[in-house]
Order: sequence, then C-alpha cells, then structure tokens
Amino acid sequence: MKSSKQFSLRKNNSFNVKSICPIVYFPQTLSDLESLPDLSLSPFYILGEGSNTLFVDTQAPIIIKPDFKGIDITETTDNYFVRVGAGENWHEVVCLCINNGVYGLENLALIPGSVGASPVQNIGAYGVELSDFCVEVTWFDFSSKTLTILSNQDCCFSYRDSIFKNDLLNKGVITEVVLKLPKKWQANLSYSGLNELPLDTSARDVMNKVISLRQAKLPDPDKLPNAGSFFKNPIVSVDKLTSLKNIYPSIPFYSQDDGTVKLAAGWLIEQAGLKGYCKNHVGVHQHQALVLVNHESDYGKDILALAQFVQKQTYKKFEILLSPEVRMVTSHGERKFTDLPIVDWGK
Ligand code: EPU
Repeated sequence: MKSSKQFSLRKNNSFNVKSICPIVYFPQTLSDLESLPDLSLSPFYILGEGSNTLFVDTQAPIIIKPDFKGIDITETTDNYFVRVGAGENWHEVVCLCINNGVYGLENLALIPGSVGASPVQNIGAYGVELSDFCVEVTWFDFSSKTLTILSNQDCCFSYRDSIFKNDLLNKGVITEVVLKLPKKWQANLSYSGLNELPLDTSARDVMNKVISLRQAKLPDPDKLPNAGSFFKNPIVSVDKLTSLKNIYPSIPFYSQDDGTVKLAAGWLIEQAGLKGYCKNHVGVHQHQALVLVNHESDYGKDILALAQFVQKQTYKKFEILLSPEVRMVTSHGERKFTDLPIVDWGK
C-alpha cells in the first residue's frame, strides 16, 4: 500500500495550516485495508480532503487517507443507482451525474470534500442532505477486517451527524457510497435564493444557481483558506426562540419536524458584532460570519483561539453555545472542541 513518512498535511487541510504526521496510509483496495497495522493503541485520524478538519497542533497523529476510486451508474425502471469510491471528489460526482442526465444532487454542488466524508457529516445545502439519497455505505471494520454494508437507517443520519461520528468512530473506514436518484425528477427550490428560478427549471440551471450562490457567499479555500461553516446551526426550543424574538423580531429560524427550531449561527455571530473580525492573521469572514478564515497564519491554534472567542462572545449575548461542525485534530488524535484547553492569544 502507498504510504509516506513525516508527511506534511499543509496541502491536505483547507485551512492551510502546518501539521506533519508520522505516517500517512493511502489504502486503495480491500487487501490494503487488511494490511494496515493494528492502530488500536496509536492515535490516528481518517482524513478525506481535509475540508472539514482543523489540525490544531503542528504534529498530527497517524493519518489514513482512503483512496478508493470508481464511479458506476446503473439503472432500474424508476431509479438510477450511483456507486462511488470513497476517494472520489464529491463535486466531480455531482457534475458527472448532471452531465449523464442523472438528477437530484444539483443542490449539493460545490461542497468541498471527498465522497467518503459525505455520509460522516451528512453533508447538506440548499434544502437537501446526503441522507435523502444515500441508500448504502460500505464500511471496513478494523477489528473483524471485513466489509459491512450499512443501510440508510443503519447510518443514523441527522443534521450534520451520523453513526460514523458516534458508535463507529475510529472503528473502520468507509470504502464506497451508493446513491439512489429517482428518474422522476423535481427541482427542490425551497431554499431562499433558489426560489427565484422558474418552476420548469432544469437540474443544470439549479446547479449553476447553487454554484453562483456559494461563490458569492463562501470564500474559495484556494484563495482564502477556510473550512466552510465552522459551527453547526444551533437547535433550540420554541420557548428559547420566543424569548429571542421579543428582543430580535427579525431573527431567522427554521422549524424542525420534532418541534424544535434551528437558528442561523451566522446571524448570531454577526449580531455579536464579529462579522469581519480579524486578529492574529485569522478572522470571521466578512460576507458569511459562519465561516472562519485563515488570512495568513501557519498555526491551527490561531483558528482554535478565534473559534473559542466566537463561541464565548455568542454565548455571552444569546446564552446559546455554538458547537463546531469542523473536526478538531490534535497530535493525540481527534478531540471534542470543549475538551481543548483555552488558547491564550493575547489581549
Ligand atoms: N446570516 C446572517 N449573517 C451571516 C450569515 C448568515 O445574518 O453572516 C443569515 C442569513 O441572512 C440567513 C441565515 O443566516 O437568513 C442563513 O444563512 P445561509 O443561507 O447563508 O446558510 P447557513 O445556515 O449560514 C447552511 C449550511 C451551509 C450551506 C447553507 C445553504 C450549516 C452549518 N451550514 O449555512 O453549509 O451551504 O446553509 O444551504 O448548516 C457547510 O456546512 O460548510 C456549509 C457551507
């Protein structure tokens, strides 16, 4: 199996911070996975394209970077089935589908990252989530060294969450994802911005609109390093919303099926006065406050310090604790944001 020692991850994290791992493995086949060393006692982290990971330290743990390739489209009378290797790029799959007349993924265009990462955080945008299409995930179990097929239900998908972040965390690797796309297609134009499109719009037009909306709001990581939304949109009770509405009548919110309410973290951060905030070469993006950007720091610690500051300031104002969507990886492996020591970044 391809591997590399003392590997610089700088080009493998969209925050573009410095971090070196002792070894990185690039499994491409089942036998590569079977030959991985026993990592049960060593800190390690499974990395996709690094677009949702913050390497907090300049030393990273052992990295496994799945490199399973292949895209295969089959069809039945009513559906297309798209089987994709975990190492493929998500946006390229979306484009390939649209170019082949397979529609449904257009709202998820331009989301950075690999296919293998897409079920882990149940990627979502513009009213659509991966869980709407994902029917099967093939997963290699480190302890039994066998492949298991997980159904949509088995994956326990919810907002930016799945079994892979919980019960199956660090217990195996996703090798393939199967998506089911009904041939009877209907545009999903529910999200604001897309509702300007005519009802008889094409999937390609929806994709182009999603791309232009994303490009207008979200900085290109190649030009201004970032990891998309840094925090999840918080879910609160209706009572909490009611008390906030008394003070902020125009607060954006999205009612959930279970009676709770999702708030817009970007709005909360902006109201806390932090949009465009900048310190120690890192900052809060000036067009979308949910995105933390790296202007020119070499260190993940600077982004962490900023994120801790944003969390503290928004809590002070709203008594809502924002929780990161981005995964925190230290030299000892992945850690919960709240378990990381507060970084002192000066006055
Ligand atoms: N808003 C502000 N100020 C800001 C940012 C947003 O007031 O600085 C307000 C907007 O005006 C709007 C609301 O907040 O009323 C929601 O904003 P937006 O539509 O930009 O979406 P979001 O909730 O901030 C989520 C996802 C994005 C996804 C968009 C579009 C999360 C954590 N983020 O962002 O996903 O692209 O919706 O569907 O759920 C990502 O996960 O990396 C990501 C970019």
